[in-house]
Amino acid sequence: MTKQFSVPRVPRGTNDILPSEISQWQDIETKARKLLATYNFREIRTPVFEQTNLFKRSLGQTSEVVNKQLLELVSHVPEEGFALRPEGTASVVRSYIENSMDRQEGISKLFYIGAMFRGERPQKGRLRQFHQIGVEVIGANTATPYLDAEVIALNAELLRTLGVKDFRLKINTLGSPQDKEHFSQALRKALQADVDKLCEDCQDRFERNVFRILDCKNSACRAVVAGIKLGHGHLSAESQKYYAELKKILQGLKVEFEEVLTLVRGLDYYTHTVFEITQSSLGSQDALSAGGRYNDLVAQLGGPQVDAVGFACGIERILLATAEENKPPADPLTVYVIALDEKVFPKAFRILQKLRAEGISSDMSYKVSSMKSQMRSADKAGSRYVVILGEDEDQKGVVALKDMKTGEQKEVKEDKLNELLRG
Ligand code: HAM
Repeated sequence: MTKQFSVPRVPRGTNDILPSEISQWQDIETKARKLLATYNFREIRTPVFEQTNLFKRSLGQTSEVVNKQLLELVSHVPEEGFALRPEGTASVVRSYIENSMDRQEGISKLFYIGAMFRGERPQKGRLRQFHQIGVEVIGANTATPYLDAEVIALNAELLRTLGVKDFRLKINTLGSPQDKEHFSQALRKALQADVDKLCEDCQDRFERNVFRILDCKNSACRAVVAGIKLGHGHLSAESQKYYAELKKILQGLKVEFEEVLTLVRGLDYYTHTVFEITQSSLGSQDALSAGGRYNDLVAQLGGPQVDAVGFACGIERILLATAEENKPPADPLTVYVIALDEKVFPKAFRILQKLRAEGISSDMSYKVSSMKSQMRSADKAGSRYVVILGEDEDQKGVVALKDMKTGEQKEVKEDKLNELLRG
């Protein structure tokens, strides 16, 4: 018979996280939760899909994430268009407004850990389903450089806690919405003469999203950008003061940073502070984390006029950046139960369930095979002890308990087994 179907495969740009890898993920999540709790952040979980419009209105119609990467769902609900979330900020803001969080607390410090989806061309460090740890601080009258500094310092500390070394923190400011407008006008003027030298995407960006030309990786575009003079002349005195204060606070906190005038970020909602943390070992997809301030997004989506700042880091990229670090061992199994013949099997099965009822992790092979083969399975399972039950032991009311580390074996009264293993 010929094979009609090929073997199913995981969708391109997505990964299974296998049992052998899960302890690394759990370790990251546990450490992140612990650190975030010390900064008084609380977890929020929003749906993995939202109305497409939420992303269009938040991230901007001209952003690449919306324009080219949004994974929209074919839905049978006629009145709604849905898309998988490409990031977490828009959803958190939607939930903040919907649940009137501003009326419950002066300042909401929220974090999330979860899968995000972007229809990107997959490559090392660039996936279609990836995971972020993100934080958002939202509240009225919270636009203070101290909060920006706290969020940036937290981002750096989080990466350090997760074992990332030698990362670079880049910061910049976009200023107020008016400053941004002045900046885009000035940029268009400066680039005008060289538009035809830009890549096709950037020629399109020139009208629609001129900031993005600054961080295009194409060498021709880089050369054009290198030829223009960038500065903070478009910023109001107030924006300049805010940025200067931020830098002073970061210096006071001994957070090392570089000012990068081409750092503009790809999502429309940012105003004032923007930042990015990179690590060179990651190659072209070198951003581990990124964020910034977005003081107008909540109001733009119909909520109160409150200020906000946040960041998100990519877990897969953190794993790539820490590949050389020691990984935590998987949780070991405590006991492997071996039944030597069919007659004692039911009793061995009862012993197994009694161990579990006491919270002792245990397993068995469910099939009576040779002692050698079952010992091999116990070894593969990484079990600390083996409990062996044969006809002899059964008659004496004991089991043989083997310590897999020392190789020592002794007879233990069946009713004393749990007590012994618990101790
Ligand atoms: P973002 O720069 O689009 O910002 O993504 C943040 C991080 O997510 C990146 O630095 C990277 O580590 C990871 N990431 C993004 N796309 C991919 C991908 N295709 N594959 C693997 N990892 C990826 C945001 O998402 C904003 N919501 C951050 C933020 C929060 N700003 C304010 N609050």
